[in-house]
Order: sequence, then structure tokens, then C-alpha cells
Amino acid sequence: MNVLHIQSSPRGDKSKSIALTSAFLSASRKVFPAIDEDVLNVWNENLPEFDTASIGAKYKAINHQPMTDAETRTWNRILELIGRFQRANRIVLGLPMWNFSIPYKLKHLIDLTAQRNYLFTYDGKEYGPLLDVPKALVVYARGSVYRENTPIPPSFDHQAPYIDFWLRMIGVREVRSVVVDNVFQDDAESAARVAAGKQSVARLVDGFW
Ligand SMILES: Cc1cc2nc3c(=O)[nH]c(=O)nc-3n(C[C@H](O)[C@H](O)[C@H](O)COP(=O)(O)O)c2cc1C
Repeated sequence: MNVLHIQSSPRGDKSKSIALTSAFLSASRKVFPAIDEDVLNVWNENLPEFDTASIGAKYKAINHQPMTDAETRTWNRILELIGRFQRANRIVLGLPMWNFSIPYKLKHLIDLTAQRNYLFTYDGKEYGPLLDVPKALVVYARGSVYRENTPIPPSFDHQAPYIDFWLRMIGVREVRSVVVDNVFQDDAESAARVAAGKQSVARLVDGFW
């Protein structure tokens, strides 16, 4: 069973989202040892810029036109990243909220890989998924709490709705998620919330594999 473990925090050992997705995989291995994990930390991948040359490569690929060596290198790297999604039987994704949304480096990965006819189809009218991933787990880490009838209601959340939409659009059929909020500081209260979050992710192991 191949799992693509996407990490979106640059904070390594200090990262709460990475601690939680890793806890989910540790708990999973206790009941399902045959997990082949592909760790994709968006900060360590040296992702190619999606600049004029990369966009040129994309359109040349779509139109089957000859590419320069640089365009070929970029396009092959994009295909390699797409391949990691295509090989995944499950996706485990952890991300911090940054400015009410997702870290720009995760958006960078999405912009590189969300290619028509690779992760999804579009016939001019409708979008269709091209992945066949039955389940994904997403851990959302946030410094604040987004609650109805407070100064920061759920309408501030441009993190979970987008990721949920994107995963379903490319072909993830069931998205399980855990929100760990109010974890801005590295203090005892945050540690307790992360510990509770680890219990929450462990409860989602059953039936995931
Ligand atoms: C650049 C940056 C922007 C942030 N923006 C928000 C935000 O808009 N809302 C929020 O609730 N927390 C925000 N935070 C706090 C993080 O979401 C929170 O600390 C999270 O637990 C970090 O996850 P990590 O430990 O996996 O890196 C921000 C943190 C950083 C570094």
C-alpha cells in the first residue's frame, strides 16, 4: 500500500502538522504494517519555479511541440511529481494555516502537478478526476480558533475548503480530516492540544487502509 505523505510545514521537528500526520502513520503501522511511505515535504523538494519557461513547457507538452532542454528538464520534473500522486493508494497531508489559507509552497506543488489529463480532465464543460484514491487524511494546524459568533468565524477559513475541494477534484473519494487549532505557541497548552489531536488521528486509522 503506497501512501503519499505530503508535509507542508518548514519547521521540521517543531512542526505540529508533521507530528500529527506522523502519529497517524505510526498508529496505522500497528494495525497495517505494509505501508510504503513516500514523504514529500514541499520545502525540501527544490520545486521548479512556475515561470514563463515552465508555463511554456506545459503548453508545448499539451500541444506536442518540441521543447528546449530546459523545458524538457522542467516538464520531466513535473511528471515525476505527478507520478508520486499517481502511485499513491492513500494520501496523508498535513498543513499549517498561513494567512487564513495554505502555505504558498503547498500551492506551488498544486500548481505544478494539477495538470489536465494527468490529475484531472476538462472537456470544456466539466471537470473529472483522474486519480483513483479511495481515502485521504488531512491534518489542519492553526494558531487561532474559527468559531461561529466570534470575531473570527469559519468564513475566515480558506484552508480546509480549498484542500477538500482540490483533493476531491483530482480523485480522492473520501477525505478524513482533523483540525488542531489554538496551537500558535510552543507551550504546555499547545502540547496538550497536539496530544489530543494525536488521539483524534489515531481514531481515524480504523477502516482507512
Ligand atoms: C507565516 C504564518 C502565517 C500564519 N497565519 C495564520 C493564520 O492566518 N491563522 C492561524 O490560525 N494561524 C496562523 N499561523 C499559525 C500556524 O498556523 C500555527 O502555528 C500552526 O500550528 C503551524 O503549523 P506547523 O507547526 O506544522 O508549522 C501562521 C503561522 C505562520 C508561520
